[in-house]
Amino acid sequence: MSQALPTAPAPAPRLGAPLPDGLRDDAERMDREALRELQLARLKQTLHHAYENVELYRRKFDQAGVAPGDCRTLEDLARFPYTTKADLRDSYPFGMFAVPMEQVRRVHASSGTTGRPTVVGYTEGDLSVWADVVARSIRAAGGRPGHKVHVSYGYGLFTGGLGAHYGAERAGCTVIPASGGMTARQVQIIQDFRPEIIMVTPSYMLTLLDEFERQGIDPRTTSLKVGIFGAEPWTEAMRREIEDRLGIHAVDIYGLSEVMGPGVAQECVETKDGLHVWEDHFLPEIVDPLADTVLADGESGELVFTSLTKEALPVIRYRTRDLTRLLPGTARPAFRRIEKITGRSDDMIILRGVNVFPSQIEEIVLATQGMAPHFQVQLTRRGRMDHMAVRVEARPGALPEQREEAARAIARGVKDGVGVSVEVEIVGPETLERSLGKIQRIRDLRRS
Ligand code: DLL
Repeated sequence: MSQALPTAPAPAPRLGAPLPDGLRDDAERMDREALRELQLARLKQTLHHAYENVELYRRKFDQAGVAPGDCRTLEDLARFPYTTKADLRDSYPFGMFAVPMEQVRRVHASSGTTGRPTVVGYTEGDLSVWADVVARSIRAAGGRPGHKVHVSYGYGLFTGGLGAHYGAERAGCTVIPASGGMTARQVQIIQDFRPEIIMVTPSYMLTLLDEFERQGIDPRTTSLKVGIFGAEPWTEAMRREIEDRLGIHAVDIYGLSEVMGPGVAQECVETKDGLHVWEDHFLPEIVDPLADTVLADGESGELVFTSLTKEALPVIRYRTRDLTRLLPGTARPAFRRIEKITGRSDDMIILRGVNVFPSQIEEIVLATQGMAPHFQVQLTRRGRMDHMAVRVEARPGALPEQREEAARAIARGVKDGVGVSVEVEIVGPETLERSLGKIQRIRDLRRS
C-alpha cells in the first residue's frame, strides 16, 4: 500500500509572521539606493585591496588593462576579469590570501571531487562578518534568541558546521553541535534536548527522518519548528516532502566556501520565495556561462560573486557554476533574491545532446505514488550511446504492481518533461546508500 501523504502542517503563526523591525540589523533596514552606495564604496575598497595584496589579481587586472581606479559605478565591475576555482587551485594552499598569515585566524577547504582542494582563509573581521550574516539568515528563517539550534552540518574543513555554529551563537541561540553522522544518536539528542531549529543538508534530513520512523517516533511530534537546509540543490517537491513529514517550515540557505560559507543568501520564512542575497557583503551578477557576458536581472545564467568586505580572501567576480537568476527583493526589499538553485553546470548531464539535471529527476520521483525520496542516477556507455539508469527506492509497503506502474510513470515523466529516455529500476526500501552530508546523486561510469 502506498503511504498516504499527510496534509501540510498549519504554519505556526509565530514563525510565519513578518519580523518586528527591531529584529533587523541596520543593513536590512536600508533602502536600495543606500545599499547601492554602500556597495560601491566597499567594491572600490575591495578592488584596491585585491590588486595591492594578491599577485594573481594584479596580474589578471594588468592583463585585462583595468585598474581599481577604473571602477566608478557598480556597472564598471563588468570590466574586471573573472576568478575561477582553477585560480584558487593553482594558488594552493594560501597563494590568494591578501593578508599576512599571522592575521588569518582560520582556514577551511572544500573537498573538491578532483585534484587539490581549494583553501579559504578568514581574518578575525571575516569571521565576525560571517557570524553576522549567518545570524541574519537564522533570524530570516524565524530563529530567535533563546531558540536551540541543532547543527548537523559536518564540522571540520567543510564550512557548514562551524559557519552555522558561530552564526547561531551570534543570533543568541543555544547551539547543539551535533555535526554529521551517528544518526541514531542525533535522533535521541533531538528528542531529549528539544531544539526548535535544525540546520542540515536536505538529504541528511531524509536520513534522519527515516531514523525517527525506524525508532517508532512520529517525526511530526518533535520539538522542531524550522529547518534551514542547504549545501546542495533541493527542489520544491523536496520541501513539501520534508515539511509534510516533519511538520516544520523548510527554508533554503545558500553559500560557498570561496565566497564565505553558508549565509551568502537565505530564504525568508514568511515568503519562501527564493533566497535574499546579503548584498551588503556579497555582490551578485548573473553571466552567460558560454558568452561570458553579464545578463540582466531576471535572466537565467551562472551566478558570480564579488566579496565586498572580505579581508583574508577577497574574491572578484568568482564564477560559482551555480545556475539561477536574480529577482527583486520581497521580504527584505533592498536585497535581491536568487531563485532556488536547481543545479550546477558541473552536475548537468548531457545525455544524447539533452541537458539533464538531477533536480528534474527529483521532482518526478517525488511526484510518484509509493516512491521514497531516494534515488540515484547511473550513467554508462552502451556501444557508442550514453545510457542513463535511474534507481528509485520504493516506500515501505509499496505493492509489486505499484512499483511497476511507478517505473513506467517515472520513465514517462522523464521522457515528456526532460526529453530523454531512461531506464528506471525500482528497488526495495532501505536499499540505496543514505546521505551523511552532501549527497552525490550521479554515478558516472562512462569513462571507468
Ligand atoms: O556548501 C556552504 C554551505 C554549507 C551552504 C551549509 C549552505 C549550508 P561548499 O562546500 O563550498 O560550501 O559548496 C558550495 O554547494 O556552489 C552550490 O553548488 C552548492 N550549494 C550550497 N548551498 C546550496 C543551496 C557549502 N542552498 C556549493 N542550493 C555551491 C543549491 C547549494 N546548492
